[in-house]
Amino acid sequence: MIILGIETSCDETAICIIETDDNSPSSKIKILGNQLYSQIALHAQYGGVFPMMAKREHIKNLTPLLEQCLIESSFLKSNIKNQISKINEEKKEKINEILVREQGLFEPFIQLVEKIDSTSWNKKIDVIAVTNGPGLEPALWVGVSFAKAISEIWDIPIIPTNHMEGHIVVAQLQQYNESKVESHKVIKLNLETKSYQLKTINYPAVALLISGGHTQLVLIKESLKYEIIGNTKDDAIGEAYDKVARILGLPYPGGPEISRLADIARNNADLTQINAEKSILNNSTHGLPELKFKLPRPMIHSGDLNFSFSGIKTAVLYLVKDIFQRQSASSPHLSATVQAEIAKEFEDAVVEVIVKKTKEAVEQYGAQTIIIGGGVSANKKIRADFTKLAENLSVEFLVPEVSASTDNAFMIALAGYMNIKSGKLSQKDFKAFGNLSLQ
Ligand code: KG4
Ligand code: ZN
Repeated sequence: MIILGIETSCDETAICIIETDDNSPSSKIKILGNQLYSQIALHAQYGGVFPMMAKREHIKNLTPLLEQCLIESSFLKSNIKNQISKINEEKKEKINEILVREQGLFEPFIQLVEKIDSTSWNKKIDVIAVTNGPGLEPALWVGVSFAKAISEIWDIPIIPTNHMEGHIVVAQLQQYNESKVESHKVIKLNLETKSYQLKTINYPAVALLISGGHTQLVLIKESLKYEIIGNTKDDAIGEAYDKVARILGLPYPGGPEISRLADIARNNADLTQINAEKSILNNSTHGLPELKFKLPRPMIHSGDLNFSFSGIKTAVLYLVKDIFQRQSASSPHLSATVQAEIAKEFEDAVVEVIVKKTKEAVEQYGAQTIIIGGGVSANKKIRADFTKLAENLSVEFLVPEVSASTDNAFMIALAGYMNIKSGKLSQKDFKAFGNLSLQ
């Protein structure tokens, strides 16, 4: 089966084509083409993602990415030429209707389609899997409308796909091995035309989803069946990373930057090096008794599986205000040393909480497997601490390779494939839904 995956839920525009061998006992999965355009550099200038700006970028990038993906996956016999086939007016009108709210997408899409001679397909795409939530609704709609336009023009059914399910299932991959299915703790995944297979999971599993929009504990009693057993009451953990980074004067997205600084502080690296690197003018810490900060571990003793990350962000804000007051009035910046120490304390605090809550969930539900997924699972300390947790609890630990932790279209194609295999039917009239839940 060949699946085209489309992902536009936030600030990554991504398209992926995978091929599965349904006759092989372990479902061999091959990536034929994988294209991703990150809007991070653009949004970084404004310190965060603006939905309408993300939407415009998706509109601009989707058609070129589809073209690249078709070329990369050798889908077409010949090179794409100019104007091979003409789309009739009636069809064009239908496509126009589908894309009417995605201003600027119709023209390049039709141009691409007219460059492709449908008789020159090497293979046929069997199904389109598109993220229809959760995420930023205007951004999601671009992908959904684009999928519907492709479906209309090439007559391919669509499976609407849950973004968070993508983050879960991608952790189940392991490299394809002809002779035996190995049981790895950490799956090595390199999203470059490699073959994979799905690992058999020991259920029940507990998945911790940690991203820019989510912090959820999910109980999985059997494949593709989810029950949310813990949730954040306010901010998501990735959001807290990003907001704390902004308070510390670090660029967007804050997660990787906080993680990098925390790591330096943790390893007692030469902090003068960061000072030079960050060229911060005033690194005076005058008036600070010592560079040790203490932040709360929010809801760590709440006795339930819920989270809260908005208080810790406020605690960092007050801490930074206090430091500014103690510093000489002429120094509106934090020193790199202080930034790194706060980053470390923040990371230690939030990781302690997610580890403890996951441990409680595993014990409460007798889980045999821990899965972590979502952009924040790319974090070095989190990966290390969860590896230790799983060892201590004697359960299996699954985490996607770093390149597959943050948003991508491969995980969407994979989730679509698994849903089709489990009997889910394709849909025509579905909507993008920003708050789509896993249950
Ligand atoms: O899953 P994702 O790519 O997008 C959403 O679905 O939200 O997650 C993005 C989030 C951002 O908040 C980003 O700061 C965070 O993941 N992130 C990290 C790291 N890499 C990305 N957080 C902590 N450490 C990292 N290494
Ligand atoms: Zn995500």
